[in-house]
Amino acid sequence: MSNYHIKAFEEYFQVYRKSVRNPEQFWEEIAEEHFVWRKKWSNVLSWDFKNPEVKWFEDAKLNITENCLDRHLSTKGDKTALLFEANDPNETAEHITYKQLHARVCKFANVLKEKGIEKGDRVCIYLPMIPELAISVLACARIGAIHSVIFAGFSATALSTRINDCDAKMIITSDGSYRGAKTIDLKGIVDEALNDTPGIESVLVAKRTHSKIIMKDGRDYWLQPLLDEANENCDAEIMDAEDPLFILYTSGSTGKPKGMVHTSAGYMVYTAYTFKNVFQYKENDVYWCTADIGWITGHSYIVYGPLANGATTVMFEGVPSYPDYGRFWNIVEKHKVTQFYTAPTAIRALAKQGAEFVDKYDLSSLKVLGTVGEPINEEAWHWYDENIGKKKSPIVDTWWQTETGGIMITPIPFSTPTKPTYATLPFIGIQPALMDENGKEINGNQVEGRLCIKFPWPSIARTIWGNHKRYKETYFSAYDNMYFTGDGALRDEVGYYRITGRVDDVIIVSGHNLGTAPIEDAINEHQAVSESAIVGFPHDVKGNALYGYVTLKDSGEGQNHDHLRKEINQLITDRIGPIAKLDKIQFTNGLPKTRSGKIMRRILRKIACNETDQLGDTSTLLNPEVVQEIIKNTL
Ligand code: PRX
Repeated sequence: MSNYHIKAFEEYFQVYRKSVRNPEQFWEEIAEEHFVWRKKWSNVLSWDFKNPEVKWFEDAKLNITENCLDRHLSTKGDKTALLFEANDPNETAEHITYKQLHARVCKFANVLKEKGIEKGDRVCIYLPMIPELAISVLACARIGAIHSVIFAGFSATALSTRINDCDAKMIITSDGSYRGAKTIDLKGIVDEALNDTPGIESVLVAKRTHSKIIMKDGRDYWLQPLLDEANENCDAEIMDAEDPLFILYTSGSTGKPKGMVHTSAGYMVYTAYTFKNVFQYKENDVYWCTADIGWITGHSYIVYGPLANGATTVMFEGVPSYPDYGRFWNIVEKHKVTQFYTAPTAIRALAKQGAEFVDKYDLSSLKVLGTVGEPINEEAWHWYDENIGKKKSPIVDTWWQTETGGIMITPIPFSTPTKPTYATLPFIGIQPALMDENGKEINGNQVEGRLCIKFPWPSIARTIWGNHKRYKETYFSAYDNMYFTGDGALRDEVGYYRITGRVDDVIIVSGHNLGTAPIEDAINEHQAVSESAIVGFPHDVKGNALYGYVTLKDSGEGQNHDHLRKEINQLITDRIGPIAKLDKIQFTNGLPKTRSGKIMRRILRKIACNETDQLGDTSTLLNPEVVQEIIKNTL
């Protein structure tokens, strides 16, 4: 028997050793014993990090939805699969059983087929956190269409860029969405995006807000009447292990988002196995991850990982502050949530509100608490531990990425002793390495370096859609034969890892990855702007906030700076979305540059963080004089 469920610290070490000594044998056992296959693989793993190419379970045939739905029908057909909690607390929660979910996914899959979607076609999904979002994801997977979910907070421009990048044929959206007290005109955003997307043939529209919207004849279809007509059986398309399952966009250090491609078999095996162990999921548990399915956390740990384990997974449409800051805890009490997985930014925002919002609720059902998305600071970690976990529920600080598909460094609850702000130890099969600036591995403990992974794991993203060269350059060029994560990390005296943050041009704001390049591109579109540079600075709720240094074409004298700031933030909102707005905008006469003309963001970052004593030698700059001017005018 394989070690599918790890229950003790010694067992973790045993299984870990086995998984790295003979990874092929280890993953083969897991795959064989815990999933249904239409055909077995001919080879467990082939890989090359130089080329780069990774294949797991080659030649195997499967459909991930048979693993997430069909196989549970005989044993768990009436168990709740999806538990939907609406934005409005007075709206009755919806319990969708495995049988019902299976039928709804099949119906939806038949609608996709009827509208001409075939295996390999790309379908974009731009929906709020309503059941149709999870159902449409699974419906695509059912027929082998490649889903690309785009977070419903992105702007029309960001949406059309992504639709065009993957050349999607269809988009699935809704008439509108609720976010707390606000109603958002999602369909209006889609309409605007579609002015610029020649490949889109049809739009399916779910009804949610009953807002008045425009439906374009021959292109837009209300979803419900089509579902009503559709058959509730749909044979699963038989997929190759390495067929793409989905594309999910993430920011990078150039303006263009990267469409990370995840494939079927390895992704399924790894997300299911990590879910089971990292959350210690047991039958009858009610698991809740507060992320949006528009991000990788939602893909892997609201939809695929939990459903592959026959779990009950909660989907929440709203926000933590509506109708008040007790909403999360109200939901925990109401549904007797056992595992709760959220982001440090949410924890910090809730901690600020004080204990009265927590103390009203019975949180005794909780067994495991999780955090993901950015480093968690010590204060937030303790607040979570004391107020939510009552010091009884272990905190799993899970480090991973869109690119890794699943959790990579994490404690295993009730096994790994936790340590505040530390993601602790590599998960089974994961071989991390810390590298120095000269490309050498740093061995031993109590060291700090750049975090790489030495050996492939089953859910590593296989490529960037349409740009394998960029995939190679971004992840496999910095260090020989290693996957480079873009993060810095330290390893303490016992070998525990602590992630210190990004070492590239990505800034994490409220748990969202934001590349500086696309924001700067948006600012530079303003006719008064000559150039700009964005850096992050610490923020007590968002983790980081954005500081923009902007030089204007003429000196800017006589211009209304507040007005310009508003216009710049509006441009960012239009091009990317409100999540990328700047907290501070400083107008300067120049930006510090190297002699080859590269903007020295490192210096700007130090100034924005109030660390001007650590600027180092600035005399070699092309224009050292601007540094003092920038410091003098700091906001
Ligand atoms: O910098 C790391 C940070 O989030 C980045 C990945 O972001 P994304 O692809 O959006 O995926 C987020 C959800 C998996 C990482 O490179 N990050 C993620 N988890 C942690 C973290 N930083 C510190 N601690 C974590 N637990």
